[in-house]
Amino acid sequence: MKKMLTGLQPTGVITLGNYIGSIKQMVDNQDMYDSYLFVADMHAITVYQDPSELSNKIRSLIALYLACGIDPNKNKIFIQSENEYHANVSWLLECNTYFGELSRMTQFKDKSMKNENFTSGLFTYPVLMASDILIYDTDIVPVGVDQKQHVELARDIAIRFNKKYGDTFVVPTPVMSRVGTKIMDLQDPTKKMSKSSENKKGVIMLLEDLDSIRKKIMSATTDSEMCVKYDVINKPGISNLITMYASITGKSIEEVEFMFEGKNYGEFKREVADAVVSEVSKIQNRYNEIINSKEIDEILDKGREFTREIAKKKYEDMKKKMGLFRGIEK
Ligand code: TYM
Repeated sequence: MKKMLTGLQPTGVITLGNYIGSIKQMVDNQDMYDSYLFVADMHAITVYQDPSELSNKIRSLIALYLACGIDPNKNKIFIQSENEYHANVSWLLECNTYFGELSRMTQFKDKSMKNENFTSGLFTYPVLMASDILIYDTDIVPVGVDQKQHVELARDIAIRFNKKYGDTFVVPTPVMSRVGTKIMDLQDPTKKMSKSSENKKGVIMLLEDLDSIRKKIMSATTDSEMCVKYDVINKPGISNLITMYASITGKSIEEVEFMFEGKNYGEFKREVADAVVSEVSKIQNRYNEIINSKEIDEILDKGREFTREIAKKKYEDMKKKMGLFRGIEK
């Protein structure tokens, strides 16, 4: 069975973009793959996190995975920092990654531009991500389009390592959902819906009040035409709402355009809001049931044991291939 793996950072709030771009893909494909889903808490600390809040956010994200429909019997669910081999493998991979490659990562360029005192962890972050992926011989990595470049770097590192030291890693492929590869901000649909956005009116959070979600969708920026047509360049707001609706209902873009032919934007937005609110309310109900349950710890204990075993083997294999062991007595 092929392997599928992804992770999310437990920073701030989880958005509808994270859900559509990443978690939902894992849920939709969990029967077809040997699946691994983790909390990327070591990626989160590349920028300062309040320690007293971080641990709660980690637990909350696990509960959210389960609430979204991730089946613990079909997925290995774990916390990245509970498996120390991710950092160990990352170092060995760093020594096989070029400064120039990391300098070209667009996410690093964007983030480092915003703050001149960025950490070196922010720079080497894509190598830790490669480690997450390569340890498990992952075949496919469901991500939003913003993470595609990082998965491509993981591919390059895997190919390079295999060439230098012999076959060690499966070369992974990034996969993006049929439609919602990038959910955009509702107020400024030319930029990604992001947890770190300053204007929260453009961002839908999975644990947000349902009325507030409805209001945000009803006041989403559109255009002066009155035609529900997918055209990212000229109608980014409407295209974004079409993408959201199509992703949640499982319909194609064409089907959505056809359904709303001749309808005005008010009617269209109401339908989008109904679909999103219905999906999110199911997630919230289940989340509230499980956030304080013991089940979470049992799942995480199992996930930690299972993944540490695999990761240890990969780490030992890499060390041996790289000559990191006591020499034989002459
Ligand atoms: P993170 O936490 O920023 O985002 C988690 C996932 O959500 C996707 N995403 C979106 N998809 C569609 N529309 C959006 N507006 C949107 N915003 C976010 C992201 O593409 C991502 O798939 N480095 C990763 C976490 C990570 C990881 C990994 C992922 C660490 N190791 C190994 C895959 C494999 C990150 O920061 O994602």
